[in-house]
Amino acid sequence: MSRYYVTTPIYYVNDAPHIGHAYTTLTADALARWHRLIGDEVFFLTGTDEHGQKVARAAEAAGRTPAEHAELNADRYRQAWDLLQISFDDFIRTTEPRQIDTVQAFMQRIHDNGHIYSGTYEGWYCVPCEAYYNDDDLVEDPSGGDTPLCEIHRKPVEWLSEENWFFRLSAFAQPLLDWYETNPDAVQPEGKRNEALGLIRGGLQDISVSRSAVEWGIPVPWAEGHVFYVWYDALINYVTAIGYNSDRQRFEDWWPSVNHLLAKDILRFHCVYWPAMLMAAGEAPPRQLNVHGYLLVGGEKMSKTSLNQITPAELVEDFGVDGFRYQFLRGQPFGPDGDFSYEGMVVRYNTDLANNLGNLAARVATVVAKKCDGVGPAPDPDSPLAPIAAEVVAEAVREWAETSPPKALEATWRLVREANAHLENNEPWKAEPGPAVDRVLGDALEVLRIVAVLASPALIDSTDELWRRIGLADADGQPDRPSDVSVPDGLAWGGYPGDVPVEKGTPLFPRLTAG
Ligand code: MSP
Repeated sequence: MSRYYVTTPIYYVNDAPHIGHAYTTLTADALARWHRLIGDEVFFLTGTDEHGQKVARAAEAAGRTPAEHAELNADRYRQAWDLLQISFDDFIRTTEPRQIDTVQAFMQRIHDNGHIYSGTYEGWYCVPCEAYYNDDDLVEDPSGGDTPLCEIHRKPVEWLSEENWFFRLSAFAQPLLDWYETNPDAVQPEGKRNEALGLIRGGLQDISVSRSAVEWGIPVPWAEGHVFYVWYDALINYVTAIGYNSDRQRFEDWWPSVNHLLAKDILRFHCVYWPAMLMAAGEAPPRQLNVHGYLLVGGEKMSKTSLNQITPAELVEDFGVDGFRYQFLRGQPFGPDGDFSYEGMVVRYNTDLANNLGNLAARVATVVAKKCDGVGPAPDPDSPLAPIAAEVVAEAVREWAETSPPKALEATWRLVREANAHLENNEPWKAEPGPAVDRVLGDALEVLRIVAVLASPALIDSTDELWRRIGLADADGQPDRPSDVSVPDGLAWGGYPGDVPVEKGTPLFPRLTAG
């Protein structure tokens, strides 16, 4: 059995989640569900990043203490993930004692290994990014203000001058380049790997890892009055949750074969700082970092100031949980930026879910009721769909392994379309009941069985319901749910047993009208 450890970034609790956060989390969830299907032992981690100035200021503006504000928004994250049926194994909060202990132990190790020294930091800081910047990272204020703006948030940065502790990142440039060279697949996709390499080759400066003017953070054990810089607290969550400081055996079981998912906004922290920190602490860098683009709304990144933030709940109301999940897993390739539009989501839902899959299920059940007294026949072992199904299963297996849910689902829907075409070509609704009709319907039911399994990482309740309707939930010798089938063995053509009741029911995915 292999182990599969997948993580999302831990999200800031300054505010509630929007669909951008949901996008990464859903991808991690679908990957976790897929790996459970193929029999891997899975550990899926998500959580919240609660310290630092960004959260402290948001709390102050809301008239709460940072702890109260963090609690409130961590709950909103949990609620959103419950709504979207996110199957995380652990939800870590950086204010928990396990994280505080681990951050102190991990950073103490780096300190003891001689990679930390004291100095004075003078320079720019962007609180919304929680990041230090040089002049050439920033842009001029178009309205003529003296202070330059952060390129991401378009807000004036702040000048810091503090006695701090520094991590000797500059000493890790060569080890990082060596690591990139010997692990060409570690950072995906290629363009993002090149971006990270560019940052390293451009020269690495030592970074301040402590803050003395901030109180809302984890105390630096060797320096009273300092707390850790929030990114040096946050990244360590990935090792806290697998027992870095509490259960060495467990840690070694899971580390370093991790798949970290993140968007390009935090590439520098994950693809440069994090591997260097691990090396400095004497640990192996992460096996895989998958960096995706932004989900844009009207061509822009969602932000409070643009008032273009959409929450998952708003869309779930119209599309249902599975409609929402399908859109964000299938809607844009995992990698480049993708524009989200409500109209596009309606089209995708109607085409793929209502018309293709929903219609296949409804049609088959209707004809089985008419021609076979509601009893599903077995598939034809020599069906022309059999080799197509085998190809689709192989392709889906490959694409899920490549962290490409959109392509895996695209492959799956090819089988749905082929089954619809097979029905059109044979028109069993026009024929007399008999073996020929049985074969065609049995083939379509077998496709529905296979598709229910392949789509189950994306569509949760609807694939369970489809499974029940095609008579498999209570059939002898059959798993109760599509997610209990073992993949790929359980997907060999001919698994639909036949002689089981098939039920039509209301549309699985009712058609939507835009607007
Ligand atoms: N707290 C840090 C991460 C620390 S991880 C050790 C942080 N938090 S965040 O709340 O700003 O979340 C950023 C992440 O949320 C992105 O990297 C991405 O995974 C997700 N996204 C937020 N908005 C997004 C889009 N508009 N589009 C795609 N992903 C987005 O950074």
